[in-house]
Amino acid sequence: MCGIVGYTGPGNSVHSIIEGLSRLEYRGYDSAGICLKIDNELQILKKEGKLENLKKLINEQKPFSHTGIGHTRWATHGAVTTDNAHPHGNELFAVVHNGIIENAGALKKELLAEGFLFKSQTDSEVFLVLLTKFFKQSNNVLQSISKAFSTITGNSAFVIIEKASDKLYCIKRSAPLVVGDNKETREAFVSSDPFALIGFAPCIYFPQDSVICVSSVSDAEVSVNFYELDLKPSTRYKLQSNAMTMDTTTKGSYEHFMLKEIHEQASLIDHLAAYYIKNEGRKILDELKNLKTAGWHLTACGTAWHAGLVIKNYFEQINRQPASVDIASEFRYKNPILNKDEIGLFISQSGETADTLACQELCKERGIPAFSIVNVEGSTLFRNSDKNFLIHAGVEIGVASTKAFTLQVLTGFLMSRSIQATLDDSNLFTEIQLLSARIAELCSDTKLIKEIAQKIYNKKGFIFTGRGKYFPIALEGALKLKEIAYVHAEGYAAGELKHGPIALIDEHIVNIAIVGPELLEKTVSNIEEVKARRGRMVVVGPQNSPEIEQLSDHYIPLNFEGLPNLSPIYVNVALQFLAYHIAKLKGTDIDKPRNLAKSVTVE
Ligand code: M6R
Repeated sequence: MCGIVGYTGPGNSVHSIIEGLSRLEYRGYDSAGICLKIDNELQILKKEGKLENLKKLINEQKPFSHTGIGHTRWATHGAVTTDNAHPHGNELFAVVHNGIIENAGALKKELLAEGFLFKSQTDSEVFLVLLTKFFKQSNNVLQSISKAFSTITGNSAFVIIEKASDKLYCIKRSAPLVVGDNKETREAFVSSDPFALIGFAPCIYFPQDSVICVSSVSDAEVSVNFYELDLKPSTRYKLQSNAMTMDTTTKGSYEHFMLKEIHEQASLIDHLAAYYIKNEGRKILDELKNLKTAGWHLTACGTAWHAGLVIKNYFEQINRQPASVDIASEFRYKNPILNKDEIGLFISQSGETADTLACQELCKERGIPAFSIVNVEGSTLFRNSDKNFLIHAGVEIGVASTKAFTLQVLTGFLMSRSIQATLDDSNLFTEIQLLSARIAELCSDTKLIKEIAQKIYNKKGFIFTGRGKYFPIALEGALKLKEIAYVHAEGYAAGELKHGPIALIDEHIVNIAIVGPELLEKTVSNIEEVKARRGRMVVVGPQNSPEIEQLSDHYIPLNFEGLPNLSPIYVNVALQFLAYHIAKLKGTDIDKPRNLAKSVTVE
């Protein structure tokens, strides 16, 4: 969701804030803004649209300030306008916010009745007005933050600056927030993501919920202090060094981050296999050996949910252990049946997805262990898990998730294998090596996929189909296409088409059928059914299959040989390329598709 950055120190805060916001823009790009303390006044510059618009304004004005906060917005309350852009400020304070204030409507009514005025339609401004109201009563900033924060409900993170000092204040509830400092340069930072602080803050503090953090800088030192809501000093934070590196923040020679991330997959697979089979990761997987459970509850959202659907098959087919997969926003409200001898497994790239975190909390409350498959080490999901299985994907910038999916599925597969047998099985390593080699080969020549994209990109709708282990890939292929190409796409189980969706088929609709070597004849009949209705057929199927190739309008041949478990990942990469090239022809913003944000930290 929204990206937040704050700075105080001897340098020009504008540089670090804009650099941080640029790194976080993939989290939200409806508008961007900055508030700077200049000559004892709070000056706000903000603009609707991408960060580029704000940067232009800053280039014209060239402001200098030692203290400031910035924000990139993904709108929740209030339209996408410059007025609704953050920061929100008045004569005393300025605030940036990530999250939702659930009781904002009621609070705003009360505040309006008391005579307070609002400049925006946002829920965030309610916090600013509350803070101002309490400050006018107490003249105490910490007390006012505490009172305002205790008055609001919902999950949020706030960073606050005041006219009267150069301090940075922040507080959060179930929303990501980190504080960083650099003792050498005497600078302090705040952000919604450690990624924004790479190269700036070698030390990162992770405050827990409802801890007020105050960063200040003097001629001699930089200090970060933590307080409970009763204003007593707090120790509820973790200190960690920021080990992330900068090479992940550029596209290199690729046109888009998404393309770069698709291409990274082969080598990331090799690294992950080495980590879990030969290096440090082995210990955590060995702990799973002979693990008994009455069942797995997998929960996740979006692409991570699709990864969960593939992993469910591993637990059921390899381990013969029951596994359910739920969309996190459904699971948390369905009063799920959870028994103590079961395990909750949460899958998330960011580790900050609000609905997934709520499921983790629910499982923990009900006393069942919480495991996670997660990319961001130190994220909320990571910190609250009993066991973490890191996917080591590096930073994923493309809003459309690609490499995270691949490594989530591979991690799930390795977990399943380590429950069942030893990881020293040479077949296991061979299959993973084959997977990375096949993906590398696919990446080395995408001419055919590009040509197919050219022929179909203007069609009215796309139906992805697959059976068994390829059904989740049909869902994922459709999601990828709709989110980056803005076209209507649906994923169906191949055998389900004739139970309704086949009514959609005509010459304007494309059926992208995944045909694995398994259940081949059955899927061929489904293709015939679509052809009979003049649907355009793109088949992703086994190489050297003239019969299916003949039936198809376009054929993407893949070598399934030797990939009995991991072929879904391989097929998915072909569909990632197809979605990418269709989106390119459509001219959409591939890395930052409209209306989306990378990490969905609101419910
Ligand atoms: O960070 P997470 O893996 O928890 O995110 C879950 C979904 O929001 C995410 O996969 C989303 O569906 C992507 N945009 C898909 O490409």
